[in-house]
Amino acid sequence: MKILVTAGPTYERIDPVRFIGNYSTGKMGFAIADALADAGHQVTLVAGPVQIKQKNSNIIRIDVESAHQMYEAVLKWFPDMDGAVLCAAVADFTPAIVADKKIKRENDNLVIELIPTKDIAASVGKIKKQGQFLVGFALETNDEEQHALEKMKRKNLDFIVLNSLKDKGACFGYDTNKITILKVSGEKIEYELKPKREVALDILREIEKI
Ligand code: C5P
Repeated sequence: MKILVTAGPTYERIDPVRFIGNYSTGKMGFAIADALADAGHQVTLVAGPVQIKQKNSNIIRIDVESAHQMYEAVLKWFPDMDGAVLCAAVADFTPAIVADKKIKRENDNLVIELIPTKDIAASVGKIKKQGQFLVGFALETNDEEQHALEKMKRKNLDFIVLNSLKDKGACFGYDTNKITILKVSGEKIEYELKPKREVALDILREIEKI
């Protein structure tokens, strides 16, 4: 299959030297891209600013910085794909205005107006055709399952991979993750804490069942 994977954070520029970002390292998304490519799938990886490299040299990598750039890349490539795994931690807000010069220190408070970014997953969910699959992630801190189920429906996903910040050793920066997969069919699969490579193989197995 031809599969699109998004990974990493996005950076939203404030001025020429500053941005708003998040703690995503891209490890989970890169592990998924490598696992899919190792299994023989043709992978296009849209990566935000990360410090890591894919291991499988067959992966086509597209580097982007902002949520808007990621949106454009994903919307351009998705129609040609059999499916997508959207693992990136996309910024939900971006500065309304990007200053063209470095903002100087002043004594007053600095207020930066933020406007919502486009929801890439929801946009892909809208153009998804029969035969294409869409997998998303949810990182939650409270009422995890309920929020994840709502997201799966709103974004038209086939399944959602839930990770909670409550789980030790899971999420940002760690080499391990603890996930629960929730499917539209109502099926729920809970996994142990394990290396992200093995988590990626669990996700691969469920994708191949769709
Ligand atoms: O709504 P929330 O950000 O929690 O949803 C997470 C899922 O949606 C992830 O799969 C993430 O990659 C995707 N997402 C997106 N575009 C956004 C925000 C989230 O594709 N602007």
